[in-house]
Amino acid sequence: MDIVTSVRDLRERLQREPDNVFVPTMGNLHAGHIQLMRLAKHRAACTVVSIFVNRIQFGPKEDFERYPRTLQADAEMMEDVGVDVVFAPTEAEIYPEPQTFVVEPSDLQHILEGAFRPGHFRGVATVVLKLFNMVSPHTAIFGKKDYQQYVVLRDMVKQLALPVEIIPAETVRAEDGLALSSRNAYLTPAERTEAARLYRILQEVRAALLAGRRDYSRLEAEALARFNEKWAADYVAIRRQSDLQPPSPSDRNLVVLGAARLGRPRLIDNVEVSL
Ligand code: PAJ
Repeated sequence: MDIVTSVRDLRERLQREPDNVFVPTMGNLHAGHIQLMRLAKHRAACTVVSIFVNRIQFGPKEDFERYPRTLQADAEMMEDVGVDVVFAPTEAEIYPEPQTFVVEPSDLQHILEGAFRPGHFRGVATVVLKLFNMVSPHTAIFGKKDYQQYVVLRDMVKQLALPVEIIPAETVRAEDGLALSSRNAYLTPAERTEAARLYRILQEVRAALLAGRRDYSRLEAEALARFNEKWAADYVAIRRQSDLQPPSPSDRNLVVLGAARLGRPRLIDNVEVSL
């Protein structure tokens, strides 16, 4: 496994690897990230992973400064999976000058997560486009854990005709159902016990849809009422998988998305439903 930190070294190393699949991450790796890398390994001769905590996708009050940076442990995990190239740039390498040209995603960037994290998807789309230009992968893998991020990036690739295929990967969960996330490290033991409630509530909405209910707004309101006083829920939303807009009664492929704060940490999750 080669760890490179400059764009120059990366391009030189990858010149020998036209068949590469890319997994962008912010590091502090867990089994969710590792699953993406395993999928990558099945698809190409060379698996490239980036580790970069991207300041421009964090809001001013968000956790950029204290986001866990654990390159040493990450490297060991990547070595075990058989990652070929790790790109771990400094901030100056990715942003040598202020990033004045940005990727402005569609209106999709203002709904759901976007409504609570202004500018977040602009920051994500901008860094991912830059990373694509540095790595030149034919395929890139993203987790459905961040469902809206996956949809934004899938649409970016389509609309900008980028020569990259986007492959979604299923969400990896802990035994009690909590979706794995680097931010779970912020949960106290008591919060960690409580945290799987978000997934359970989304599963209940899923079960109700499968049982035939189509009163979406009411289902969303009932779900919000299921959070106890330990939580501050931002939204539970039933949307179409294709564009994350509210479904009409004839839509069959739905996704139930939720976001809620449990103490300080904010958790997001989603479940797909095919009727
Ligand atoms: P990060 O949060 O590190 O996630 C990297 C990738 O791992 C994303 O595609 C994310 O959806 C996926 N992932 C995270 N938890 C997962 C889980 N429990 N199961 C399956 N996949 C999971 O997402 C980002 O970084 C950044 O926004 C990035 C795309 C790297 C741009 O900066």
